[in-house]
Amino acid sequence: MPFEYAPAPEATDHVRIAPRYDLFIGGRFVRAHSRRRFPTVNPATEEVLSEVAEADEADVDRAATAAAGAFPAWSALPASRRARYVFRLSRLIQERARELAVVETLDGGKPIKESRDVDVPLAAAHFFYYAGWADKLEWAFPNRRPRPLGVAGQVIPWNFPLLMLAWKVAPALAAGNTLVLKPAETTPLTAMLFADICQQAELPPGVVNIVTGGGQTGALVVGHPAVRKVAFTGSTEVGKLIQRQLAGTGKRLTLELGGKAANVVFDDAPLDQAVEGIVNGIYFNQGHVCCAGSRLLVQESIVGPLLEKLKQRLGTLRVGDPLDKNTDVGAINSPQQLEKIRGLVQSGVEEGAELYQPECRLPERGYWFPPTLFTNVAQSSRIAREEIFGPVLSVLTFRTPDEAVEKANNTPYGLSAGVWTEKGSRILWMSERMRAGVVWANTYNRFDPTSPFGGYKESGFGREGGLQGLLPYVELAR
Ligand code: NAI
Ligand code: MG
Repeated sequence: MPFEYAPAPEATDHVRIAPRYDLFIGGRFVRAHSRRRFPTVNPATEEVLSEVAEADEADVDRAATAAAGAFPAWSALPASRRARYVFRLSRLIQERARELAVVETLDGGKPIKESRDVDVPLAAAHFFYYAGWADKLEWAFPNRRPRPLGVAGQVIPWNFPLLMLAWKVAPALAAGNTLVLKPAETTPLTAMLFADICQQAELPPGVVNIVTGGGQTGALVVGHPAVRKVAFTGSTEVGKLIQRQLAGTGKRLTLELGGKAANVVFDDAPLDQAVEGIVNGIYFNQGHVCCAGSRLLVQESIVGPLLEKLKQRLGTLRVGDPLDKNTDVGAINSPQQLEKIRGLVQSGVEEGAELYQPECRLPERGYWFPPTLFTNVAQSSRIAREEIFGPVLSVLTFRTPDEAVEKANNTPYGLSAGVWTEKGSRILWMSERMRAGVVWANTYNRFDPTSPFGGYKESGFGREGGLQGLLPYVELAR
């Protein structure tokens, strides 16, 4: 019998969201030259939270010029001084964790328990980790002298707004670069709080510049001649556009794009534990996760019992108010994303897969999609091939380990994978053969700043996190 839960809403009265935000350039908030603004809404209520500026070419130029102007002094600072600034940023994120978590949840729709326990602590940890490298760069790459590149242009998505900011900003600063960052159009608010944190940390003006806007603003950041290195996380489609845009410019590029990860469960796996890992793998953050375990590969002999347990577990997921501390699945980030999920789910039904959704009441306002599971999925169907980026799991089966590898790798993507088995040798065997940047063993969606993350094939190239995450931001001189 499912438990009844009384509402446990997180307070929002400690948070002040300004009705309007300007661009953060040269250490100050400045009015956009464009004079244009656009709203950012709370996807759980459709209420407008604030209006942010839309940066045009002149604005991006101003930001890139500020970053270029700040570079000589910033890169010449003694490394221990730079480290101190980065440590300061991490401590301020910790200090303001509650505020950041609430704003992240309001702006993006993710459950407060995730923004509070995952996004914000991991963002702080990322800054701490790279602050640690800042004064040890000399020893990071033996016999090589790492030198910063200059201005980094960074474009990030809406699924982990503050965390993706941390993944981009922390290594860039630690290595001595300055930057222009463009947050996603539906989730700009924690980046605006971060701008405030930069002021609070007394970061030298121009080291961090934040310009809001849509894809066009992103393209301007990427294309600006002062930018020496581009880091992008987002759709494979835009990643390809950027790669074309940058061809021949000599700019450095890292791309972290989509995924269609296989989560492989063998017949000797601890089933209850695997069910939790499967749920975490695909319903975490409404499935808006590039490394989501969206294809479940189950060994044929355990399909019956596993699906029974999984369906039962789906029935206990609490969908609704993201600010409620009990909520497991929050709001879909935007009407566009909801449309995309609906379209792909429809295609799954039309292509003959069997749809399962637990009974659940969705709120009337806002953008919602229930936890969804498809069985009888053909490898050729769209729901087995395309990134849905929603709470939708496609279940496929296999008989032998070889078949599992074959099916897991049968995708244009290669970001992540999961293996569930009791046998250590099988974990190693599988992880050697699966073409994925990260392979989780008997767990899923686990992140640590010391561990590099990135893709194969159409999931992109370059690594973020760990020592490897410094490489895109340095030149290695002899
Ligand atoms: P998107 O790739 O358009 O957006 C990501 C970021 O890129 C945003 O900040 C956006 O403003 C910016 N952008 C858009 N066009 C650009 C351009 N030409 N040059 C430079 N920057 C540009 O992704 P979108 O449209 O929000 O989502 C579409 C699909 O992409 C999702 O359904 C999902 O499948 C996938 N996606 C994957 C992500 C990941 O983490 N791998 C993150 C976001 C989306
Ligand atoms: Mg929003």
